Amino acid sequence: LPDPAVTAPQDADVAALLPRPGATSDKYRRGVVGIAAGSERYTGAAVLAVGGALRGGVGLVRYAGTAEPVAQVRARWPEAVITTLAPGEGVERVGRVQAWVLGPGLGTGDEAHAVARSVLASDVPVLVDADGLTLLAADRSLLHRSAPVLLTPHAGELSRLTDVPRDRIEARRLENVRQAAAELGVTVLLKGSTTLVAQEGRPVVVNPTGSPWLATGGTGDVLSGLTGALLAAGLDTYDAASAGAYLHGIAGRSGPLSAWDVAQALPEAARGLVNGRRRGV
Ligand code: APR
Ligand code: MG
Repeated sequence: LPDPAVTAPQDADVAALLPRPGATSDKYRRGVVGIAAGSERYTGAAVLAVGGALRGGVGLVRYAGTAEPVAQVRARWPEAVITTLAPGEGVERVGRVQAWVLGPGLGTGDEAHAVARSVLASDVPVLVDADGLTLLAADRSLLHRSAPVLLTPHAGELSRLTDVPRDRIEARRLENVRQAAAELGVTVLLKGSTTLVAQEGRPVVVNPTGSPWLATGGTGDVLSGLTGALLAAGLDTYDAASAGAYLHGIAGRSGPLSAWDVAQALPEAARGLVNGRRRGV
């Protein structure tokens, strides 16, 4: 018998979740996602997260960062609306968004902390990844908010958040992701060779797509941007995480590939799902 505590979505389930513009949609109604990522030292994560978000089916991607990542994002993505942050500044000057992505390449110092505090002080759903997770592990008070939170750790990042050693997480991934979601009161997408999505009261999603070609630097940043865009388009944290992991896995099903290639492959992956013409996982 199938285990009711676990579920594996199929193409049609995910196709039904993906945002589609109505005939009279405008860009603001399709959703606006904010990306708070990148730092003077790590610019690539910002570029990749914005690239994932631009393929998530929203109307607008807003990027907020300091000078160097802004220059890189601006050079690659003329579509993004950019706010250049002064060192230590939060995201208060950024226009309205329906969801935030926080963390890839952000750094973990005081300036990154100020950005994290301002993003989490907002009243919209926040996806926290990478350095954002490190900041949360060091300052749990950041998690005290009423709008939804989606964390997207790999096992090492989940270990820092839960104080469970990494090898114990790897040995019992399902139990650990379920427990982390319940204890932290958030949705958790645990990355790895099999990606799991946990939220209290819902079956754990075991993502059936993906391949080991995804084990290359920056693919997690693309996933963050994509999934954040799905949140901004109106999916809840559980559905956005499930659909994001599923699409990302299809885009990364065959290689060799770079993280950039995964972002580029997302539209075709979504079209294949929606048109029901995809064969196999
Ligand atoms: N099979 C299938 N998928 C895999 C496999 C595998 N063997 N290995 C990794 N993946 C997928 C994961 O599920 C995830 O979607 O590749 C992606 C990797 O994401 P991350 O672990 O976040 O790696 P990366 O994008 O390189 O992170 C960039 O951020 O989290 C920090 O420490 C990390 O410095 C690194 C940076
Ligand atoms: Mg990562």
